[in-house]
Amino acid sequence: MKVFIIGIAGGVGRRVGQQLATAGDEPTGLVRRPEQVEALASGGTRTILGDLVAMSVDELADAMRGSDAIVFSAGAGGKENDAATTRIDGDGPGKVAAAAERAGIRRFVLVSVFPEAWRERRMDASFEHYMVEKKKAEIQLVQTSLDWLIVRPSALTTEPGTGRVDLGLAKVHVEITRDDVASTIVALLRSPDLSRLILEVTGGTVPIAEAIDDLRQALTPIAPGGSGGQ
Ligand SMILES: NC(=O)c1ccc[n+]([C@@H]2O[C@H](COP(=O)([O-])OP(=O)(O)OC[C@H]3O[C@@H](n4cnc5c(N)ncnc54)[C@H](OP(=O)(O)O)[C@@H]3O)[C@@H](O)[C@H]2O)c1
Repeated sequence: MKVFIIGIAGGVGRRVGQQLATAGDEPTGLVRRPEQVEALASGGTRTILGDLVAMSVDELADAMRGSDAIVFSAGAGGKENDAATTRIDGDGPGKVAAAAERAGIRRFVLVSVFPEAWRERRMDASFEHYMVEKKKAEIQLVQTSLDWLIVRPSALTTEPGTGRVDLGLAKVHVEITRDDVASTIVALLRSPDLSRLILEVTGGTVPIAEAIDDLRQALTPIAPGGSGGQ
């Protein structure tokens, strides 16, 4: 499978790329700095030098043409200002979705965020802006004709992955390792029947493959007078 990853040098994106490359798939993605091209090439991942904000929709479409799926895991990451959050987290997914449509790529996995994350805390204005932009991006993607999947992870950690998660339509916000988010995304890329869904994933106890099977069961329509999947 050829997967084009926006944010391939980032915490989640790099792990998705590594897992795909190890499995014999063909990950590619955009990086902003030449040294990232070399660093990722040494791990077997081919990259294209480019900036999501600077590139036109046509340039993005040319870069990703021939891919089977897109994973969008880029973000300003609080390292830049609110305007960058708007351009990257807010406007980025819609722009890449337009490019995907132009390039004839249907499958699009967006890494988003729990909308109610840390509602119990008093977060600053930049965090609130980030949440608004993430939601805006979800709305733009949902309105496309693409075969989209939105994955909302809880707070990310760099602890080693456990291979176990809590995955479903609505989950309590805890935290999750970037390894486990990447493994979940790779497993979902291999689950084409799961489409046009907004999923929440957080640290948990269920092996990822089982969590995906459980989700399928839970999505089984309830027959009149019968009981549903779970
Ligand atoms: N942090 C959390 O707790 C948390 C929780 C839930 C969801 N999320 C979301 O999960 C996703 C992945 O998070 P992460 O921590 O893995 O992200 P990350 O390490 O900050 O990586 C983001 C990547 O996006 C790239 N990027 C930013 N702007 C770009 C542009 N204009 N063109 C091309 N690439 C660009 C960055 O490139 P450079 O390497 O050049 O900077 C970086 O490699 C993000 O969308 C984030 O918002 C995060």
